[in-house]
Amino acid sequence: MGFSPKVVELSGISAGYERQEVLNNIDFALTEGECCAILGDNGAGKTTLFKVIMGLLIPWQGSVKILGRGLDSAGSRIWARRQIGYVPQARSDGRLPIQVQDAVLLGRWGTSFAGLRRPSQLDRQLAVETLELLGLGPLALCDCRELSGGQKQRVAIARALVRKPRLLLLDEPTTYLDVAARDNLPELLSTIRRELGLSILVISHDAQSLQEVTDRAVLLRDGSLYSI
Ligand SMILES: Nc1ncnc2c1ncn2[C@@H]1O[C@H](COP(=O)(O)OP(=O)(O)OP(=O)(O)O)[C@@H](O)[C@H]1O
Ligand SMILES: [Mg+2]
Repeated sequence: MGFSPKVVELSGISAGYERQEVLNNIDFALTEGECCAILGDNGAGKTTLFKVIMGLLIPWQGSVKILGRGLDSAGSRIWARRQIGYVPQARSDGRLPIQVQDAVLLGRWGTSFAGLRRPSQLDRQLAVETLELLGLGPLALCDCRELSGGQKQRVAIARALVRKPRLLLLDEPTTYLDVAARDNLPELLSTIRRELGLSILVISHDAQSLQEVTDRAVLLRDGSLYSI
């Protein structure tokens, strides 16, 4: 090795659904600790790109490497999934009739506890630390259904971070958020970068608001990725 490790490395990726090609011959690399915004119109393929990175959609052509490991076996794709914290575009957390602290703790499911095993002291401690980091401490006992859009987003990010991922993928639903919640995201991201030093890919419809916290941005259009 010896060179700086790439957290994500896509080479010649083409991918899509049935006969519709969405991504066409894409090359992309994210280095350790980097934060990159992904821009593009609705339907451009941003979420599809995330699915490829997470090993949920197998590309037609090209190779995906996460932290230097190729995702060409089922085992490696499961492994990759564990390195990645994913904040999905569609929020369902808000409908859960459970407390914020339990919603965050559930993010650890499938890491050290699963099935009938109960959360450990470490799981609980990580949940508390994550709640504090995202300023959710005061809301820990609130019912998730009573949160605002911005607060729900914080819970969704907390659920991803509590798994201690090496890479954070944020599929930003700016459209569902009010202006105040949108304004919070840059601040939230800079806290995450400062405190956790995570590598981050953030899909955004509002490049400008994220300019200060991202290192660079790429634009997805007509299946290709452009540096901007
Ligand atoms: N599961 C699927 N099956 C078939 N086609 C799909 C599927 N998911 C997405 N597509 C199609 O792939 C294209 C890219 O979709 P994708 O969700 O990646 O776009 P996006 O950039 O995330 O859009 P948005 O900004 O609206 O979230 C669209 O034409 C979409 O209709
Ligand atoms: Mg999308």
